[in-house]
Amino acid sequence: MAVNAETAVGLRMSIAFLLNGTPVLVEGQPPTRTLLDWLRDSRGLCGTKEGCNEGDCGACTVMVTDEGGSRALNACILFLPQLDGKAVRTVEGISGPDGQMHPVQKAMVTHHGSQCGFCTPGFVVSMAVAHLNGATDHDDQLAGNLCRCTGYAPIIRAAEAAETEPVPDWMKTDSAFSLAQVSPGVRGQAAPAAFIPRDSDELAQWFLANPGATLIAGATDVGLWVTKQLRDLQPVAFLNGVKDLQGIEAQGGQFHVGACVTIAALRAAVAKRLPSFGELLRRYASEQVRNAATIGGNIANGSPIGDGPPALIALGATLHLRRGDEMRSLPLEDFFLDYRKQDRRPGEFVAGVSFPDAAPALRCYKISKRFDQDISAVCGCFNVTVDGDVVTRARIAFGGMAGVPKRATLAEAALVGGPWTLATVKAAAQAMAADFTPLSDMRASADYRLAAAQNLMIRYFHDLAGVPVSVLEASP
Ligand SMILES: Cc1cc2nc3c(=O)[nH]c(=O)nc-3n(C[C@H](O)[C@H](O)[C@H](O)COP(=O)(O)OP(=O)(O)OC[C@H]3O[C@@H](n4cnc5c(N)ncnc54)[C@H](O)[C@@H]3O)c2cc1C
Ligand code: FES
Ligand code: FES
Repeated sequence: MAVNAETAVGLRMSIAFLLNGTPVLVEGQPPTRTLLDWLRDSRGLCGTKEGCNEGDCGACTVMVTDEGGSRALNACILFLPQLDGKAVRTVEGISGPDGQMHPVQKAMVTHHGSQCGFCTPGFVVSMAVAHLNGATDHDDQLAGNLCRCTGYAPIIRAAEAAETEPVPDWMKTDSAFSLAQVSPGVRGQAAPAAFIPRDSDELAQWFLANPGATLIAGATDVGLWVTKQLRDLQPVAFLNGVKDLQGIEAQGGQFHVGACVTIAALRAAVAKRLPSFGELLRRYASEQVRNAATIGGNIANGSPIGDGPPALIALGATLHLRRGDEMRSLPLEDFFLDYRKQDRRPGEFVAGVSFPDAAPALRCYKISKRFDQDISAVCGCFNVTVDGDVVTRARIAFGGMAGVPKRATLAEAALVGGPWTLATVKAAAQAMAADFTPLSDMRASADYRLAAAQNLMIRYFHDLAGVPVSVLEASP
């Protein structure tokens, strides 16, 4: 059946989800209404705070549960249709049905984890999700929550203190939620121009028929187009229901990753086989953003400062695109043509990306003003093969050094065929000056960027030799 915007509208735009244990049916809302606005304005649930309204501060953190588990997400850049069929728990649902405090709430009181209290609901939800999932890497779990007055030590102490407390029963009920609980007879009424495809065939047909539409995957970029630029995006298609683009397969020495795989899932999959890539992904935004953002979105948006593309290009990744029934594949670096211009035809979408599942010499370095929750000023990824003492292959890719993620081809050429020595590496670093003409902006000056990139080349040499080069290794 051909699917176009009109039939799609009629097909599936009543949205049903579980809110703090109660089924809700949402109709007649614009498809880009954020969960945060709806909670506060339509439901009077004002515990979820609005801080930055762009995914940076975590004041709006909510818990979302589906068959993949429970995760913390930022409600300010989460559109209502992304919740269809899921369970949402706000800070109001973190305490028990009779007002019992959650163990993390008790611990926040005991350890003086709150002063003005504005950030506290967001912290409490993040902490409750980590507690439910048994996650004890509290620095990472809470890196997306900003507190301006208490300071983080009491909050981390509270999270540690709650670790051994049992998960309250009311926190376990969301995973048993099924859509049947939400008046199934009422769902399916007409709504604004939006489509939630269930698989990539439906998506391919619809996008071919609606090539001017906006695809929305994790909405960690698109969300800001709405909340900050006040753009009207209709028609839109939400990709979170496209299950066949959410898989990760390791086969034939390659990872095959669907476009809708989140950064959090990708990080978990590659952490053992490609540890440096995994560590780069740990530095990618915050828990809340990693739980939403997809690798397809990270590639498709063509940002020159995205973290995924430089690592994938250094790995020699292949990008898979689909338009209607036609599939094509190309080296990832060829996808990025110019600033915000990609080799993608109208109606064509990113289906996935493949890359080697082992690369012992891969190292990824992210330079940003803050260690956590920050966009790269420079992201350098190196993957050099040395046979005997001679460099036989080099793939070096950078973000933040040009209008697109880009290979350092002259630096690579200066390495290949030479001996793997500091002198060769320094010559390659010199050659890099002709590879790039970086920009100056609020993140870094052009001079800083070039000097940092050249120094990363030298850092790579020492890193492969086993010298501690990371600020984490140098810390006590
Ligand atoms: C607070 C914050 C911190 C961030 N930190 C980082 C960071 O550290 N590193 C980093 O790299 N990025 C960062 N980002 C940017 C963002 O998270 C990434 O670019 C993200 O991967 C985008 O993925 P998404 O699924 O959210 O895409 P969306 O916002 O849904 O979409 C982005 C673009 O891609 C298109 N698109 C999405 N999926 C497809 C597809 N399958 N085929 C074709 N087009 C598609 C959309 O139409 C849109 O043009 C940050 C963002 C925020 C809000
Ligand atoms: S309001 Fe700051 S992350 Fe949502
Ligand atoms: S307690 Fe005031 S911002 Fe955290």
